[in-house]
Amino acid sequence: MNRKVTLENLFVHPIVQKYVGRSGMAHAIRVAEKAFHIAIKTNVNPDLAAKAGLLHDIGHYEWYQNGKWDYQQYKQNDIHAIKGSARAHKLLVRCGEDLQPAKEIALAVLLHTDSYLPEGDLQLTPLQNVVAQADHADEEPGGNHHYRRIDEATALSRIQKLDLKINQHLLSHDLEQTS
Ligand SMILES: [Fe+2]
Repeated sequence: MNRKVTLENLFVHPIVQKYVGRSGMAHAIRVAEKAFHIAIKTNVNPDLAAKAGLLHDIGHYEWYQNGKWDYQQYKQNDIHAIKGSARAHKLLVRCGEDLQPAKEIALAVLLHTDSYLPEGDLQLTPLQNVVAQADHADEEPGGNHHYRRIDEATALSRIQKLDLKINQHLLSHDLEQTS
């Protein structure tokens, strides 16, 4: 299976640098890596999982009041998953992703958290579950995961490594299917 869009294509895009940079690039990359690993173990497409992991917090808004994070405001008004879902979809399509995978990734971003949704039980798809799990696994108390830092060169090399792993996995999967 050929990938029309790589993680590197997304990572270097100004929209990702701006918005994912704002919510925490180190966290986003860690979630993409974790999503890849969980996806492989659970037979989910690792390309979609890693992309949704990288983009899951792209809709974050900064709820600061006088230089301090206003948790109350955030809790009451946050729609980062909704905003992120639409933003991720637009970006993916612009970068050349097909509409079907773009929708799947957008839905995984939309449902990576349920903190903004009414009470109730959602039946998540395996892909949506992978992304929610990966995000959860990288969370730190007090939202500290959003402030973890990573330098540009390290970030890019981890993204490239992950792209390589995804390509290798998809290739071996294709070979299995044709043999
Ligand atoms: Fe997150």
